[in-house]
Amino acid sequence: MPKLYEIVEKQDLVPGMALFHVYAPMAAKNMKPGQFIILRVSANGERIPISISGWDAEKGTVRIIIMAAGRTSTEAVALKQGDCFQDVVGPLGEETHVEKLKGTAVVIGGGYGTGAVMPPARAMKAMGNRVVGIIGARSKDLVLLEKEMREVCDEVIVCTNDGSQGVKGFVTDGLAGLMEKEDVQWVLAVGPVPMMQAVGNMTKPKKVKTFVSLNAIMVDGTGMCGACRVTVGGKTKFACFHGPDFDAHEVNFEELMLRQKMFVTQEKIAMEKLQEVK
Ligand SMILES: Cc1cc2nc3c(=O)[nH]c(=O)nc-3n(C[C@H](O)[C@H](O)[C@H](O)COP(=O)(O)OP(=O)(O)OC[C@H]3O[C@@H](n4cnc5c(N)ncnc54)[C@H](O)[C@@H]3O)c2cc1C
Ligand code: FES
Repeated sequence: MPKLYEIVEKQDLVPGMALFHVYAPMAAKNMKPGQFIILRVSANGERIPISISGWDAEKGTVRIIIMAAGRTSTEAVALKQGDCFQDVVGPLGEETHVEKLKGTAVVIGGGYGTGAVMPPARAMKAMGNRVVGIIGARSKDLVLLEKEMREVCDEVIVCTNDGSQGVKGFVTDGLAGLMEKEDVQWVLAVGPVPMMQAVGNMTKPKKVKTFVSLNAIMVDGTGMCGACRVTVGGKTKFACFHGPDFDAHEVNFEELMLRQKMFVTQEKIAMEKLQEVK
């Protein structure tokens, strides 16, 4: 039996990004597509929210992908198989809205978002929908989880900025081509905020139901502290509690981007301190 929050398997995906299977039986037992966890690397460390890309209730493990974005995520990516996270809280947030469609469902992943869209893709497919996955990367060697995406989707469109694989350009170029050919009725996009905003802008004129998973700065993750406040449809919502998924056509992305940058000075100092420790 693994220790609580032990990394039972680790796979380095691309430089600075790793996939972990973590023994967190309570989270694994209750997880639903679209939910997330909050973990700590060490007792004095900060809490970071991380999406779930899969889980195994029997083995008690959750599958997560972490990108080294700053101090805590860098510390997390440096952990090895057999190491333990300090703690894992979850599942948190609401599950992704899924439904049976007459047309096509599309999941779009950028970076760690490619893992995050897999459970909703699987749920949409289980309902009998045709599901197309679109994944984006700068170049062929940075394309993440293509094989796994092909297992959960009917078709996968790979987009690379340099054209080294699939469609040349962004995920929105892949989506534009698909929308010309098929009756796309439902879209879920998870990734960097500009990507999610661009997807929302593309589907809005055609009134395609579109969800985005908002990666607002979070602290408690339960709707108590207000750190993750976002504006959706002119109303204040807490991304951790009312989301993380929201209607892309209603989100105030400019405010979200401003709030994401609130602590850049402190984040820079934290990273410098980590370099000193090394
Ligand atoms: C619902 C949700 C799901 C997420 N899923 C994943 C995932 O699956 N994989 C992954 O690698 N990352 C994920 N993130 C982002 C991840 O939480 C941040 O990259 C991480 O917190 C950065 O912490 P840091 O100390 O390494 O970096 P810092 O240097 O502290 O911050 C770098 C940037 O990350 C963001 N950030 C910092 N602290 C937080 C915080 N407490 N909560 C949210 N964002 C923060 C800020 O925009 C900041 O500018 C998710 C965020 C949310 C809200
Ligand atoms: S993180 Fe505290 S209210 Fe959402």
